[in-house]
Amino acid sequence: MKTIAETIQEKPWVGWALFFGTMAAVFLLGLFTYTIVERRTEAQFAYIPLTDIDPLEPRPEVWGRSFPRQFSTYRQMADTTFRSKHLGSQRRDLLEENPRMVILFAGFPFATDYNLARGHIYSVEDVWRTLRTGAPMEEGEGPMPATCWTCKSPDVARLMHEHGPEEFYSKRMSDFGHEVVNPISCASCHDPHTMNLRITLPALAETFQRLGRDVNDATHQEMRSLACAQCHVEYYFGKNNYLIFPWDKGMRAEDMAEYFDEIGFADWIHPLSRAPMIKAQHPDYEVFTTGIHYQRGISCADCHMPYATEGGQKFTDHRIQSPLNNIANACQVCHRQSEAELIRNVYERQDMIKELRTKLEDVLVATHLEAEFAWDQGATEEQMQAALHKIRHAQWRWDYAAATHGGSFHAPLELARTIGDGLHIAHEARREITAVLADLGHFGPVPLPDVSTKEKAQTYLGIDLEARRAEKQIFLDEVVPRWLAEAEARHRRWDERKADPTRTESYLFD
Ligand code: HEC
Ligand code: HEC
Ligand code: HEC
Ligand code: HEC
Repeated sequence: MKTIAETIQEKPWVGWALFFGTMAAVFLLGLFTYTIVERRTEAQFAYIPLTDIDPLEPRPEVWGRSFPRQFSTYRQMADTTFRSKHLGSQRRDLLEENPRMVILFAGFPFATDYNLARGHIYSVEDVWRTLRTGAPMEEGEGPMPATCWTCKSPDVARLMHEHGPEEFYSKRMSDFGHEVVNPISCASCHDPHTMNLRITLPALAETFQRLGRDVNDATHQEMRSLACAQCHVEYYFGKNNYLIFPWDKGMRAEDMAEYFDEIGFADWIHPLSRAPMIKAQHPDYEVFTTGIHYQRGISCADCHMPYATEGGQKFTDHRIQSPLNNIANACQVCHRQSEAELIRNVYERQDMIKELRTKLEDVLVATHLEAEFAWDQGATEEQMQAALHKIRHAQWRWDYAAATHGGSFHAPLELARTIGDGLHIAHEARREITAVLADLGHFGPVPLPDVSTKEKAQTYLGIDLEARRAEKQIFLDEVVPRWLAEAEARHRRWDERKADPTRTESYLFD
């Protein structure tokens, strides 16, 4: 029997055969391991296909062809049946549920019509429908500036690219009615080539810059909240309705109030108390950053866009909604408590904040009406000034806590502190007015009108809801279809250009 070494010496090709055989075996084994790993990764995330989507393409269905899972969950937002104790996707008439807000917002469009948000897919439709936007029959008409469109549609990024933000903001909402038709969608948050998250609206990046930060330096996890902070923030309209976030002195209610005082800003003058008011928008991001989940490094997307799996593939659920409609994926990936226990935790926090907030509302409503009474008794500007400044500050703190709809769960402690501060200031305002009334010779309680329902409160303010509804119906029947027809023609032009193989430029611009 020969040894292998002897055989190889006699027939060298056996050596080479052994050598290449072993190499081939190792190579195949390596290949095998590689495919296993690759399949595993694929099981987690579908690969990102190359697309020819324009970076400013506002139509979700065009992106949806390349990303069917994200698109089909996105479209589930059309379902508005979910309702939790305080929130959810159903359209809820918040003035009917809480008529105090009619008095608090007197003289401002929110006293006329205020509904709970239904979801991103309705963002444009709800702007058409709300009585707050009036019934502009022609371009240039209507109460609202174009700035109102900013957080409603990715068509805005396209228009800003074309006109520049300054010119965009300076127009009327109705000037762009035919241009802004696509609801919040893919282009609001993604770059189509990498599908990385991106900031498409300028206000957030500009604010970061003013504060000496660069939004492009944000980490991946920060972007999973900052994508939302493009819109879910406090803001105001500066010169020529330029959109600005008032974060220069900090994000707490009192920091922003100081900022507004310093620049002498008021959204409107309250017609009953004549106080210069500030309307809180929706400081969701700001309030969230004071809560425990933010402090533990959790992002908006962790709860509102949790991971889902389908056919072994992991992807991000794009049905952005109340996490209480999806507790298994939104909460139980981190918490081992039962669904009932987690819901109880959420409701308990919301109920407690609501209880405090309602107390502040009651004092504020009375204070506005008592101030009105003091004016009627002949009070002077000078006498009223201190009280009015306090009304402004107390209501701002209330609104900061009320307008952030998720805030009583996101950061209950901070909201309790803010409302407590507001209660203190509101009581001081009321005491000032009592002193003014005493100077005018009025002692004892002030006779207050009955404003205990939405209807009674609106009648007291002289709001003619029926007239507003009638003109809105004409707008919906005549103007909106015209806008939609123009948009459809534009979309067709885009599709034709997109299909042209000789095209070298963006297909979006005429
Ligand atoms: C381009 C602006 C914009 C961006 C970006 C945005 N939102 Fe919104 N969001 C809105 C508007 C506007 C509404 C109200 C839409 C309506 O109901 O008509 C809304 C509504 C919501 C609602 C209420 C929906 C419901 O069913 O009750 C939730 C929750 C929400 N957004 C979470 C998020 C989260 C989380 C992010 C980030 C991943 C985000 N949003 C990013 C503008 C935006
Ligand atoms: C409000 C912001 C927002 C909108 C609008 C949005 N996405 Fe996303 N998308 C996200 C976030 C957040 C992630 C998770 C990103 C991460 O963690 O890297 C994500 C992830 C993705 C991914 C990566 C794979 C995955 O599932 O995690 C794809 C693909 C995607 N989105 C497609 C879409 C499409 C298509 C649309 C429009 C139908 C869309 N997105 C609309 C915020 C958004
Ligand atoms: C990514 C992980 C993660 C997710 C998702 C998550 N949580 Fe938490 N949650 C935490 C951490 C971490 C804390 C802080 C507790 C600690 O550090 O001991 C916390 C704290 C809490 C607390 C106590 C807060 C307080 O006031 O002290 C409640 C209640 C809670 N979570 C409920 C929820 C609910 C409801 C959801 C789903 C809507 C949810 N969490 C989703 C990680 C998570
Ligand atoms: C730990 C989980 C968690 C995180 C993180 C989180 N939220 Fe929420 N959010 C909730 C819960 C729970 C509610 C209350 C839902 C309810 O009552 O139906 C809520 C409510 C909301 C609502 C009102 C929803 C409605 O139905 O009207 C908005 C808007 C919202 N969150 C936006 C955000 C934004 C923006 C961020 C990041 C800045 C964020 N959330 C971070 C759990 C979370």
